Amino acid sequence: MGFEKAKGCNKFRNFTVVLTVVFLALVTLLKSKDHYSVTGDPLVGHSHRNDVDGANRSGNNITIVDFFKPYDPAYPTSAPTSRFFKKINLRPLSPYSIPRVNFTVWIDEQYDISFERLLLNIGDQNLANYDSLRGNNVLEGVIIASPSQNEPNYFFQWIRDSAIAMNTIVFNLFSLDAESAESAGLNVTLAGTVLKYLKNSYELQRLENPSGSGVDSDLLKGLGEPKWNVDNRPFLDAWGRPQNDGPSLRTLTSFHFLRELQKNSVSLEDVIAQYESHFQHELDLPFENERELYENIIFWDLQFVVKNWKDNTFDLWEEIQGQHFFTSIVQISSIKVAIAFLKDHEKDWSDLQEFVNDLETCYDELTSFIFEESGFLNPNKNFIVETPSMLHSRSGLDIAVIIGSILTHNYELSNSSNSIPFDVDDSGVLNTLYSMVRSMEIIYPINHQRAKLKTGVALGRYPEDIYDGVKTSEGNPWFLSTAYASELLYRLILRNYQFGDDLIISLDNWESEFWTLIFEGFDDYVAEDNLNYNGNSNGNKNTYQLVIPFNSPAFNQTMLSIFDLAESFLDKIREHVSDDGNMSEQFNKYTGYLQGAENLSWSYGAFWTSCNVRSKVLELLQ
Ligand SMILES: *[C@@H]1O[C@H](CO)[C@@H](O)[C@H](O)[C@H]1NC(C)=O
Ligand SMILES: *[C@@H]1O[C@H](CO)[C@@H](O)[C@H](O)[C@H]1NC(C)=O
Ligand SMILES: *[C@@H]1O[C@H](CO)[C@@H](O)[C@H](O)[C@H]1NC(C)=O
Ligand SMILES: *[C@@H]1O[C@H](CO)[C@@H](O)[C@H](O)[C@H]1NC(C)=O
Ligand SMILES: *[C@@H]1O[C@H](CO)[C@@H](O)[C@H](O)[C@H]1NC(C)=O
Ligand SMILES: *[C@@H]1O[C@H](CO)[C@@H](O)[C@H](O)[C@H]1NC(C)=O
Ligand SMILES: *[C@@H]1O[C@H](CO)[C@@H](O)[C@H](O)[C@H]1NC(C)=O
Ligand SMILES: *[C@@H]1O[C@H](CO)[C@@H](O)[C@H](O)[C@H]1NC(C)=O
Repeated sequence: MGFEKAKGCNKFRNFTVVLTVVFLALVTLLKSKDHYSVTGDPLVGHSHRNDVDGANRSGNNITIVDFFKPYDPAYPTSAPTSRFFKKINLRPLSPYSIPRVNFTVWIDEQYDISFERLLLNIGDQNLANYDSLRGNNVLEGVIIASPSQNEPNYFFQWIRDSAIAMNTIVFNLFSLDAESAESAGLNVTLAGTVLKYLKNSYELQRLENPSGSGVDSDLLKGLGEPKWNVDNRPFLDAWGRPQNDGPSLRTLTSFHFLRELQKNSVSLEDVIAQYESHFQHELDLPFENERELYENIIFWDLQFVVKNWKDNTFDLWEEIQGQHFFTSIVQISSIKVAIAFLKDHEKDWSDLQEFVNDLETCYDELTSFIFEESGFLNPNKNFIVETPSMLHSRSGLDIAVIIGSILTHNYELSNSSNSIPFDVDDSGVLNTLYSMVRSMEIIYPINHQRAKLKTGVALGRYPEDIYDGVKTSEGNPWFLSTAYASELLYRLILRNYQFGDDLIISLDNWESEFWTLIFEGFDDYVAEDNLNYNGNSNGNKNTYQLVIPFNSPAFNQTMLSIFDLAESFLDKIREHVSDDGNMSEQFNKYTGYLQGAENLSWSYGAFWTSCNVRSKVLELLQ
């Protein structure tokens, strides 16, 4: 957010044409060489990056069951030769730069502070900051990106930021503590916050704006409008528009809300009734039940994606027009979740099933776009490329890839996300984190100390960033980027336990790159890549795989190492949050001091969600 718009738009629009040509040429080249092949169903399994030479890895297992036990023939290690067993080890890591107990005290406090601070940015008469926000014309249901009104002015509502903030609220809707439960543990205050947000979304969907018209129009282009005034007046200045991830993010949040209610056996009617009786106050919503919420709000956001997903759009940082991994992944995910939702209602809502066909067509087209045409997967890059059309001037590396994976895979609803590609254990997503760390430990001086220790570091948006929070000069680390890095790792742990599979890591120096943050000893091993079991070079690539059986001591030891790495990112945040818990958008790459918009909703929300996942991981690891 907040980049200089007017200039940016025109500049990038010209690039787009040239790039499309270059890009199409590249795609053709790659296709003709069949350099990149996707075998099997690209949406299933850990990896969509398969060997083109057909190496059979399954015969090349290196199985480790305990990293800390001396070699014991009674333990089955089926290594081709036992020396491999000795070479691969967990990398020692000290996650905290203060005593662990102090870190724990800090994180517990900051966890609570972050949620409170997020609520201060939400227009809702039941929340603490309402009088002040109302004094500034903020309507109920509106979330401000930041209270900062100049240098920079973020005192607006963004569709993206609001949907993400509200998704965070939904994670906190049901109290874990049964004692404090009003009914089924539902927090009626927060439920009201979500309902007001949905009501406000309904209004915005129907307002004419610079991106176009709303739900009454044929193409619904107006739903791609990214930024609004806090009183719901359209923002009329030049801006990077449209931004077509917004409606999908809103859909994901809406479905998340409905699934949370369903999981806790509360109907939407109940929630509305509970709110109105508790607060003695009519909500006057544009929906009374789940079906009306679907038909009056969610449906239009889906229809927008069906009709507009092919369009070029500005990226989540509002700087460049083109096709972006983040936008595509949130779009395909919203479509997939919607299909599952409608199928769940097949019997009672038979009249709505026709739309499933449109959604399925859209899903198939988006799938082939993402895997085959987009250039997000590039055989020369060992990470997912956020905006392929920018590869002439950027590395393609962007935290957006990691944020996209996290937002589209709701760990608490794992079944519905099973077949959405690029889950948190995808090697492209993990290697994106690896490459971000490798780049930013160098370009941000405040990371240099940590780079030597190979721990988590402060991350920014993308290496070439020059937005300093107010204007363009030099880019800095961001709180939200660093928090998402930790969340990705906590999620990886949860997923590994949830699915109960052996951990299998191809030792090919490519897919395994991320794992070199956790293990050491891959290098020695990969050097022998071209030798077969007998040490003869036979031209075949014997790619070995590290196998860590589920529930072995080694499995738990590995999860603890991932946990420590995750912790080290939060410890880096700790160094830069102010003593009273303030977070802004960025922190200075030389001094580490807060920089850019103060009290950014998204910074607090990202930190809070990471801590929320962390608390679930702690239950498992203890
Ligand atoms: C290698 O490990 C995988 C995962 O545990 C297992 O499915 C496979 O059968 C193993 N292959 C051999 C040859 O042991
Ligand atoms: C791969 O190796 C496994 C274990 O040795 C074997 O069962 C399987 O048939 C092989 N698959 C192929 C495609 O060669
Ligand atoms: C850790 O916490 C203890 C107890 O509050 C305090 O005395 C000590 O100074 C703290 N250490 C650091 C490094 O912050
Ligand atoms: C940021 O939050 C703190 C704590 O609530 C508050 O004191 C400060 O005024 C806020 N900054 C802005 C710009 O509102
Ligand atoms: C509901 O959430 C609000 C905001 O976090 C909190 O202040 C309140 O105590 C919660 N209510 C219950 C009953 O837990
Ligand atoms: C989720 O998937 C698991 C295994 O695939 C299955 O056993 C379980 O019943 C599913 N749960 C729901 C709520 O569909
Ligand atoms: C690994 O951790 C899980 C979850 O905490 C636990 O249930 C299991 O017993 C542990 N396994 C071993 C071998 O320590
Ligand atoms: C943080 O917020 C407090 C108010 O709670 C404010 O007084 C202080 O200046 C802020 N600190 C920083 C470093 O911005």
